[in-house]
Amino acid sequence: MESRSDFSLKALNTFNVEAVARRYVRFDEEKEIFEFLGRQSLEEERLLVLGGGSNLLFVDDFDGTVLHPVLKGIDVLDADKRHIRVRVMAGENWDELAARAVASGWGGIENLSLIPGSVGASAVQNIGAYGVEAKDVIDSVEAIDIHSREKIVLPAEACGFGYRNSLFKGRWAGRHIITAVVFKLCRQPRFVLDYPGVREQVDALGTVTLDTLRQAIIAIRQAKLPDPADLGNAGSFFKNPVVELEPMHRLQARFADMPHYPQPDGRFKLSAGWMIDRCGWKGRRIGRAGVHDRQALVLVNRGGATGREILELSERVRRSVRETFGVNLEREVKVVP
Ligand code: EPU
Repeated sequence: MESRSDFSLKALNTFNVEAVARRYVRFDEEKEIFEFLGRQSLEEERLLVLGGGSNLLFVDDFDGTVLHPVLKGIDVLDADKRHIRVRVMAGENWDELAARAVASGWGGIENLSLIPGSVGASAVQNIGAYGVEAKDVIDSVEAIDIHSREKIVLPAEACGFGYRNSLFKGRWAGRHIITAVVFKLCRQPRFVLDYPGVREQVDALGTVTLDTLRQAIIAIRQAKLPDPADLGNAGSFFKNPVVELEPMHRLQARFADMPHYPQPDGRFKLSAGWMIDRCGWKGRRIGRAGVHDRQALVLVNRGGATGREILELSERVRRSVRETFGVNLEREVKVVP
């Protein structure tokens, strides 16, 4: 465990913006979390549980305590002919897990290759890409309740998973420290190739295997999405909005080429990136904050931007989309005030 005062979080958020935490505590082992919580009264304290910092925007210094679990470990729990259950500690890097799964012949998360962030955050956020979501393979989530100091193990059905959402992000936000996630992966993989462009990319690499699919996903992402190591960003800044049939028809009448994806509940998911692009934002900069030039849903730090500058840009983008399409964009990125 390491505890620091007035600690810079710049290297711990992928937007790479400066923010100083009044107190920062890093946990390398689960028992340190229990020891720390047993010694502290945190009722009055502002708390933030940090994962890989890849879905956060700090707009100010953080006047509270940042709890940063970096617990490591990947253990196979059990396996049968078809499935394998793997318990992964929350501080493991997501893409290292994806690579390990592919190399081991464990199917289910290859489409989620190259997503930045930690394994713990994959459950908070229900990360998703190219037709797969984390909830499809999460078996259970282990967490510590910060205030009662109890350990809980929640089966996936109890986590309230939805599109980029879970109870950990919604109703229970800030209540738990996720310590591990158990994944149920497939030993006889079923490949998900339906997302536009995926099949073509795999075909160009040869036959479909976990490895070629991972390579294809990496190539697709690298062609569109900026690497946070080169250009600060947090992936999609907004969620894709979901609308009812009637507003969908009205929009289609005005914008015939607007992408829209039918949902199981009869509604339609729209493409926020397309709308932002249509409003002319792609590649635009305001000061040191910008809209990515290959994917308009991604806001970027062009170097030295503050969190506030990026937030202001996002609000201007949101206003344009509201004025042009009458659609309200909801942030995917968590803004930390
Ligand atoms: N589009 C444009 N211009 C743009 C961006 C997109 O016209 O600047 C169009 C595309 O041509 C396509 C449609 O919008 O017709 C959808 O674009 P894309 O396939 O790039 O996916 P997305 O909806 O923008 C979502 C996820 C991504 C995920 C991809 C692939 C959300 C908020 N974002 O993006 O997730 O990688 O699908 O599954 O759901 C993330 O969550 O951080 C993230 C990157």
